Amino acid sequence: MISALADGLVIVVRGDLERVLFDEPAIHRRLDDIAAQISNDFRERELTVIAVLHGSLMFVADLLRRIPLPLKLECLSVASYYGKAQTSGEVTLKLATASPSGGGQITLPNVAGRDILILDDILDSGHTLAAVRETLETARPNSIRVCVLLSKKKQRARQVDVDYLGFEIEDEFVVGYGLDFRGRYRNLPYIGVLRRELLEQAEK
Ligand code: IMP
Ligand code: MG
Repeated sequence: MISALADGLVIVVRGDLERVLFDEPAIHRRLDDIAAQISNDFRERELTVIAVLHGSLMFVADLLRRIPLPLKLECLSVASYYGKAQTSGEVTLKLATASPSGGGQITLPNVAGRDILILDDILDSGHTLAAVRETLETARPNSIRVCVLLSKKKQRARQVDVDYLGFEIEDEFVVGYGLDFRGRYRNLPYIGVLRRELLEQAEK
């Protein structure tokens, strides 16, 4: 459905999707379950959540509000797609907050001895989460667990063990609820499959 606003702005959203996979209530119900599992597993340890931005933004905000435990939140910014529908395999990590020393260096959050929970939007080839995990391991945390909202059923370039999973999906390109295509669709409150023509146009 495409509707034009009076000022000429066009809302193109639902019509760009082939179908909706998970609507808002379905996502929130699943978050209730995952949050309960995490709250139970970490009831005796203080959690340090590492959010992998930007894709996990909505997921992190909604999930953490369901976890009634003391915890700390750090954010990492990661880029691997560069506007294509396929991962480049090359993962660029940077801290979401500018490091006090500046200079564009990666300053890892101080996670030595801490129990880390990495939160990401989607597991596809595995490159991103494998790189994030390896990088965080160099900071000598006590433990690392991984939570992803979506995992694609496919052969991965890199194996990643997931401790908490929202939904398993087919190997299709999805957007919404934080997930983007070329920076768009993150603000949709639901998750859906992007129409193939839109991906194909972008490939050209
Ligand atoms: P991986 O490194 O191939 O596992 O890809 C992980 C990252 O690529 C995710 O954190 C997303 O930002 C992005 N990504 C992978 N699949 C999709 C998708 O279907 N829609 C939107 N972004 C995706
Ligand atoms: Mg991402």
